Amino acid sequence: MKYLIINGSPRKKNTWKMVEQARSKLDGEFEEIHLMKEKIPMCNGCFNCIMEGEEKCPHFDKVNPIIEKIRSSDGIIIASPVYAMNVSALLKNFIDHTAYLYHRPEFFTKKALIVVSTAGAGQKKVAKYIDETLRHWGVNKSYKIPIACGGKDELESKKIDSVALKFKEDVESKKLHSPKFIDLLYFNLWKALAFTKDPIKADKDYWFNTGLVNYDYGPGVDLNIFKKTFSKLLFFIFRRIMK
Ligand SMILES: Cc1cc2nc3c(=O)[nH]c(=O)nc-3n(C[C@H](O)[C@H](O)[C@H](O)COP(=O)(O)O)c2cc1C
Repeated sequence: MKYLIINGSPRKKNTWKMVEQARSKLDGEFEEIHLMKEKIPMCNGCFNCIMEGEEKCPHFDKVNPIIEKIRSSDGIIIASPVYAMNVSALLKNFIDHTAYLYHRPEFFTKKALIVVSTAGAGQKKVAKYIDETLRHWGVNKSYKIPIACGGKDELESKKIDSVALKFKEDVESKKLHSPKFIDLLYFNLWKALAFTKDPIKADKDYWFNTGLVNYDYGPGVDLNIFKKTFSKLLFFIFRRIMK
C-alpha cells in the first residue's frame, strides 16, 4: 500500500509523534509532505483554480505535485495541531488551494487518517473540519485521531493504535463505503451546476470529460436502491431549480 503523509505542523513534535505511532501500525511505502518545507505561497484569492482550471493557479507548480501524490496513493494521512481552535495556517493554506476540488471532486477511492493534536481543546472540532474538507474532495472514508497532550496517556496511545489498525485494514481491503446523504447532496449540486446555461467552464469540462455526469456518485462506489433513488431525485430537483 502507498501512503502519503501531509504534515500541517510546522515542527516534528506532538503531532508528528502521533503520526509516527500511527504509521508504525501500517505496512507499505510512505511519502512525507511537510507543508512547512513546501513553502506554498498564500492563496491570493484569484479564483483561477475554480473558474479557469487548477492549472491556472499561480502556485500550481507547488500544489499539483502534492495532488498527484494523493492521486497515486492508497491512503492519505493528514495531520495538524490545533491552532486557535482551528487547523494550522499551513494546512488551511493548502486546503484553500484545493477549493476547486469542492466543485470537481475526484478522490472517490481514497481513504484517509486524520491526526490532530492539541494542548487541551478543539481537537474533535478540527478533526471534523478536516473530515468535511476531505469529503468535499470525494474521499471515501476518513478515520480520526483527535488527541490532547500528544497521546502520552496510555488510553490515548491505545486509541492511536486501534484507529490506525482500522484504517490499515480498510485501506488494504480496497472496499468502498457507501457515501453519506450529505455527500450525495453536494455531488448532485455540482453535477447539476455543470448543466446550467452558463456554467463555470472548468467545472463543465471536468464533469463531462470525466464522464462523471453519467454517475449517481463516484465511479466504483455502490449505492443501495434508496441512495440511488435519492441521488437521482436530488439531481432532478437541482436541475429544476437551476432552470
Ligand atoms: C499558535 C498556537 C495556537 C494554539 N492554539 C491552541 C488552541 O486553540 N487550543 C489548544 O488546546 N491548544 C492550542 N495550541 C497548542 C497546540 O495545539 C499543541 O501544543 C499541539 O500539540 C502542538 O503540536 P506540534 O507539537 O505538532 O506543534 C496552540 C499552539 C500554538 C503554537
